[in-house]
Amino acid sequence: MMTDDEIHDVEIRLLLEGIHQVYGYDFRDYAEASIRRRLSHWLAESPYANFSEAQAHLLRERPLFEALLAGITVNVTEMFRDPLFFKAVREQVVPFLKTYPFVKIWHAGCATGEEAYSMAILLHEEGLAGRYRMYATDINESVLQHAAEGVLSIGDMQRFTRNYQKSGGKRSFADYYTARYDRAILAAELRKDIVFAPHNLAVDAEFGEMHVVLCRNVMIYFKAALKERCLRLFDDSLLPGGFLCLGMKENLERRMPSERYTEIAPGTRIYRKHYDRTA
Ligand SMILES: C[S@@+](CC[C@H](N)C(=O)[O-])C[C@H]1O[C@@H](n2cnc3c(N)ncnc32)[C@H](O)[C@@H]1O
Repeated sequence: MMTDDEIHDVEIRLLLEGIHQVYGYDFRDYAEASIRRRLSHWLAESPYANFSEAQAHLLRERPLFEALLAGITVNVTEMFRDPLFFKAVREQVVPFLKTYPFVKIWHAGCATGEEAYSMAILLHEEGLAGRYRMYATDINESVLQHAAEGVLSIGDMQRFTRNYQKSGGKRSFADYYTARYDRAILAAELRKDIVFAPHNLAVDAEFGEMHVVLCRNVMIYFKAALKERCLRLFDDSLLPGGFLCLGMKENLERRMPSERYTEIAPGTRIYRKHYDRTA
């Protein structure tokens, strides 16, 4: 006879299978401990005694599923997260980007948009305003709505200012937003060249001819097979000579297509795609 915990795990697997078949969202290849923790938390707050009971509702009531979806993705982010990463982009990636007439950048798993806005600030300071288009995508549509508004919490501004300064920012961070009550509204010029759109890394296709792809702190939640799908997608999206940027806890080591990439400097987690695909 199975224990309660084992039955709980079976129910989770059945629910993830059901969600995939009904809604097309594939969480079956997410790291188990993290998804189990988040689902169990959702269940504890719900009126249902177990996932078998919840499943009947989740598979029929889309708004209930949307609420679950919002709860199971980790959307933590910040402006100039890992400032030294942005410093490396400024000093070692931007000089190459300047050689192109127009630059295309994809932020996969952008959450509420802070990473894309940080990049916009950096590109403006480096003279690339009007010469780029950014695609910022996420599976979670409610964070995308938030992202498109370009509104931050005023309480975060001190921390974001420190990050900005450490990343080699050239102006005053306050130049980029207008404070209104408890909110900081980002300048419209930063928003205008960013397209926020839904995209699911588990099932959707690549974005063509990108110069830079960033996917930071997203694949840490995925199992190996899904990580590999993502890396194939990014490889297919990037132009030769393009840059793939991962989170500080992620790397390309031993993972395909590592033989086609070189980290621009140790520990930056910025990988440049070789020009010769056979190299
Ligand atoms: C921790 S946030 C990372 C945000 C930002 N890249 C950063 O590093 O600050 C992870 C994001 O990945 C998104 N995500 C999770 N699964 C996804 C999938 N299958 N396709 C696209 N985005 C996904 C989540 O919704 C969440 O917004």
